[in-house]
Amino acid sequence: TITPVLLAGGSGTRLWPVSRKSFPKQFAPLVGEESLFQASARRLSGPRYAAPLVMTNADFRFIVAEQLDQIGVTPAAILIEPAGKNTAPAILAAALAAVENDPDAILLVAPSDHVVPDAEAFGRAVDLGLPAARAGRIVTFGIAPARPETGYGYMEAEGEGEGPLLLRRFVEKPDAENAARMIAQGNYLWNAGIFLFAAQTMIEAFRAHAPEYLEPVQAALNEAQTDLGFLRLAPEPWDRLPDLSVDYAVLEKADNLSVVRYSGHWSDLGGWDAVWHETQRDDPAERGAVTDAHSTAIDCDNVLLRAQDEGMEVVGIGLKDVMVVATRDAVLVAGMDRAQEVRRAVSALKDKG
Ligand code: GDD
Ligand code: MG
Repeated sequence: TITPVLLAGGSGTRLWPVSRKSFPKQFAPLVGEESLFQASARRLSGPRYAAPLVMTNADFRFIVAEQLDQIGVTPAAILIEPAGKNTAPAILAAALAAVENDPDAILLVAPSDHVVPDAEAFGRAVDLGLPAARAGRIVTFGIAPARPETGYGYMEAEGEGEGPLLLRRFVEKPDAENAARMIAQGNYLWNAGIFLFAAQTMIEAFRAHAPEYLEPVQAALNEAQTDLGFLRLAPEPWDRLPDLSVDYAVLEKADNLSVVRYSGHWSDLGGWDAVWHETQRDDPAERGAVTDAHSTAIDCDNVLLRAQDEGMEVVGIGLKDVMVVATRDAVLVAGMDRAQEVRRAVSALKDKG
């Protein structure tokens, strides 16, 4: 079986005011009833998968445990990172922890803040990648790019079909010009941010391309403390780690990458405009108005109206291309085309203290 590794340590500022430092977007019900984290855990449960490893930090440990309990998923372990050091150390820690129990462990690393509605189609893509992962490849999942987005990794695939295909090149977060050039070339895919590999393969990739991580991460595991069922990695070695994503630390340099093309729906909920897209219904009468149970759109075009906390009502009249997200202590009102700038609200508020 495959051991899912759920990354649940990030904090998404572009989905403020629902996403907060103490309660980031992956734990909020943004699309549907469940949180994105719960939907991810559920997607990676069933006959293909063993119990998941969850990588998170101390602030979120009880949210993680409670949300898993609510959906009846029992984790293999919840590892607590002493500080957020991005995905490179988190993934290496998961790989080193996994080989202690099973030297041949196969891991599927997944973010906990994505929307992938068709779990079965995704599972079939995982099945396609499995032989390559067993043979020592790091298998990525490629999405047909829709626009020259600069927030994603780009992957140049060799050949047609679902794959697994060889990857010629991995470019993390290109600038706009390079993103446009790669899209024009036609053989590039977006990196979905989901990786399938033998734990040993990832450890070897760090040894080859980012050896400075090995000793501190291993030490943090060796000195880890069990606390109320959580495994707390030791802070001293962890503090010495560089803060870097696995994409920059390893994937851009690795020469054993493969890609499975995934043609099912995938979205990284990168902003409120993406939430709007995900929740929009194709009903011309609604004119692109997305509301929740406590919001009402009257004579509106292309609006997102959300009343996130109980006992609130949001009503929009005659609005166009606007988003309103109301929580008990903060309200966002912004143009739909300014969704990516919401993180500026967070820095502006921080500056005000
Ligand atoms: N446990 C843990 N610890 N999780 C973390 C940490 C950390 O320190 N930092 C980030 N994460 C989690 C995030 O919560 C998210 O679920 C996942 O790891 C990926 O991190 P992001 O910060 O969201 O990465 P990104 O979106 O900029 O880029 C990655 O994803 C893109 C697709 O969404 C890259 O892999 C890109 O290449 C890819 O295209
Ligand atoms: Mg992301």
